[in-house]
Amino acid sequence: MRPIERFAPNLNSLAGESTLVYQEKAREVAARGVKVINFGIGQPDVPTPAVAREEAKLALDQGFTGYTSALGLEELRQAVADDLKERLGSDVRKEEVIITPGAKMSLFLAFAAFVAPGDEVLLFDPAFYSYAEVARLLGARPTYAKMRRESGKGFSIDLEDVQSKLSPKTKMIVLNNPSNPTAALLDKKEVEGLAQIAKERGILLLSDEIYDHFIYEGEMASSLDDSSWRDYVIYVNGFSKTFSMTGWRLGYVVADSSVIKKMGTLAANTYTCPNSFAQRGALGAFRAKGEVQQMVDLFKRRRDVIYGELSSLKGVSLDKPRATFYAFLEVTQVLKTTGWSAKQFSIKLIEEKGVVTIPGDVFPENVGRNYVRLSFALAEDKIREGTKRIAEFVRESLG
Ligand SMILES: Cc1ncc(COP(=O)(O)O)c(C=O)c1O
Repeated sequence: MRPIERFAPNLNSLAGESTLVYQEKAREVAARGVKVINFGIGQPDVPTPAVAREEAKLALDQGFTGYTSALGLEELRQAVADDLKERLGSDVRKEEVIITPGAKMSLFLAFAAFVAPGDEVLLFDPAFYSYAEVARLLGARPTYAKMRRESGKGFSIDLEDVQSKLSPKTKMIVLNNPSNPTAALLDKKEVEGLAQIAKERGILLLSDEIYDHFIYEGEMASSLDDSSWRDYVIYVNGFSKTFSMTGWRLGYVVADSSVIKKMGTLAANTYTCPNSFAQRGALGAFRAKGEVQQMVDLFKRRRDVIYGELSSLKGVSLDKPRATFYAFLEVTQVLKTTGWSAKQFSIKLIEEKGVVTIPGDVFPENVGRNYVRLSFALAEDKIREGTKRIAEFVRESLG
């Protein structure tokens, strides 16, 4: 074996971004002249607010192009703390915030700071795909508590199942609320119940709340609502979704200041700091609350359109997404009739109708196998055209 082939064992088991496979397939189909409708992309389609773009440009023109502190700009850390106070009434201080290159890096810092070989990390099934991958990369074992679906209400967590899946090796529970891919929004009782379990059992709660602005029904219950959050919560959020800044690569962690210091050391030894002028832009973004609200209102209208079109379709089932910009469509009947997996469903749907969806089986572990995820972050006419093609596809598949 050539030295260049001797990868670290844990790297060999790491899956790539599996959602990109479907984008690749979509490009192939588009090259044949098909007008592709893409429900696959997990990012808002509106521009980054002008005030953020202007601030970043100004920073560049002012020569603000050097390293910043590993923890991020003090002003931005303070702005994050102020924003959390305003939105959640939380008492976060800037010493309890680290700015990172994207929320994915926030998650990575959280895992790297606490998870070691032999540990178990409890995830909800289905979960955002990278939690399990990063846990495994660090030598830990992902375990799963099932999310349960109640028709008409959507998905929720099952605290009894959580209890039964914990072991003395469980180091961390990872919660994603609101949830990608299920679009679930947990209620106060669920969040408080989970917090109670984490505290009683001495387990960390990593809470990824990156979709917390995209709420259409109900109220956000945050992990930061508990006044003792400093003892066990690692809170993750970011700029990617809220401010349509996916390519800027900015996220943040909130945790006890001792954790943030350690994360700063990790940052200093790996990526040094987040991008300097992007951080200045992010400072501006906090002044664009009106634009964020407009985007959420727009997405709510789109949510109504996609729900209207798909909920009445025979052979599939959809609960009204309460949050995020995803519709998690159950396609069990089609899969049973045809013998396909969700992956095959998605591939055939692209090939035959030029419609991109993400099969639920990319979100571990088992629950997603009968679902496909559709992002409704696209124009209403496209949603209508795409759902029309899906309806044809479902009808044809069911024969
Ligand atoms: C649940 C969840 N967490 C984190 C991220 C990553 O966000 P970022 O682009 O800021 O790294 C995403 C992006 O799709 C996500 O869906």
